[in-house]
Amino acid sequence: MAATERPDLLLTGKMVPVIEESVDKLFTVHRLANAKDRDAFLAEVSPRIRAIATGGQFAVTAATMEKMPKLEIVSNFGVGYDSVDAKWAGGHGIVVTNTPDVLNDEVADTTVALLLNTLRELPEAEKYLRAGKWLEKPYPLTNTLRDRTIGIVGMGRIGKTIAKRLEGFDRPIVYHSRKPAADVPYKHYPDLVTMAKDVDVLIAIVPGGPATKNMISAEVLKALGPNGVLINVARGSVVDEPALIEALQNKTILAAGLDVFAQEPKVPQALIDMKNVVLLPHVASATDWTRNAMGQLVVDNLAAWAAGKDPITPVVETPWPPKKK
Ligand code: NAP
Ligand code: 8YV
Repeated sequence: MAATERPDLLLTGKMVPVIEESVDKLFTVHRLANAKDRDAFLAEVSPRIRAIATGGQFAVTAATMEKMPKLEIVSNFGVGYDSVDAKWAGGHGIVVTNTPDVLNDEVADTTVALLLNTLRELPEAEKYLRAGKWLEKPYPLTNTLRDRTIGIVGMGRIGKTIAKRLEGFDRPIVYHSRKPAADVPYKHYPDLVTMAKDVDVLIAIVPGGPATKNMISAEVLKALGPNGVLINVARGSVVDEPALIEALQNKTILAAGLDVFAQEPKVPQALIDMKNVVLLPHVASATDWTRNAMGQLVVDNLAAWAAGKDPITPVVETPWPPKKK
């Protein structure tokens, strides 16, 4: 393909090396990260843009896409694509792709680590040793997974992978989703509050967006109760964050392990000040191996589209081939 025939692609932020290095071979790339005046840059390039490579750091809204009459594909780095208005894209012949499955194992590993770190206070215990306090007395005894029933909120690709790992811990596992999941042996709860009453650990792993906003509400936290632990590896929007802070402060629940927050990268000082939480900076998939696999899938989707082939992992709102109206 001659350089002049290369479709114009908008890169909405700094991406992993596999994306940064591959896109220049196929596209005329416009890097928003290099723009001094982002609005002026977008106004200048938007009429030419046919493809977008993006991640959660940039909202691909209807208003953004409306200004791109030639836009055909949005390739999202991440399985969660709540920062892309996929419904609008689907209604306007634009395909949205994401990065499912390649991160299931990494995110499940991190979730189990976060759960154990939260119960066993391992980050605090490590700080205790480094501060020389072990020389004075042993670290206090902690909570345990031993006496707990685990409720998973979302039994999709990652929820199932988490559950598979947790089976090795010999604890009862149940789950909540709108419809029962096929091929899982765990009890399904159609109602989240009812499940929260029956479990001691809630693990959130549902998509973000309006349908799940604040679904872990004050009512759910109250039902989880004073021995309850919340692990959120889904999206910050899924949890009513002020209600969670209050529940942790008032001992309505015992503890929380959080990888995601409402206003990333800002984390409320109230959470930072608490001892009964473990806080991670949205790192559930953040290894070289997995981020590279996600980046490769972003590139493969774009390359398939550029070659006139079917996108590999279109999202449900933009089925491929597009449904006839
Ligand atoms: P998935 O396969 O689509 O599974 C989603 C699950 O959530 C399904 O069981 C679905 O079942 C359930 N669900 C969806 N909407 C719901 C609702 N309104 N109420 C109750 N349950 C609902 O997705 P996945 O690949 O497992 O990924 C899940 C999410 O994890 C992503 O969208 C992303 O937000 C998050 N994630 C976070 C990280 C991180 O770095 N922390 C990494 C990867 C993924 P029903 O449709 O039957 O309700
Ligand atoms: C990434 C994620 O951290 O896949 C997702 O939905 O949240 C994570 O794997 C994120 O997408 C990076 O932008």
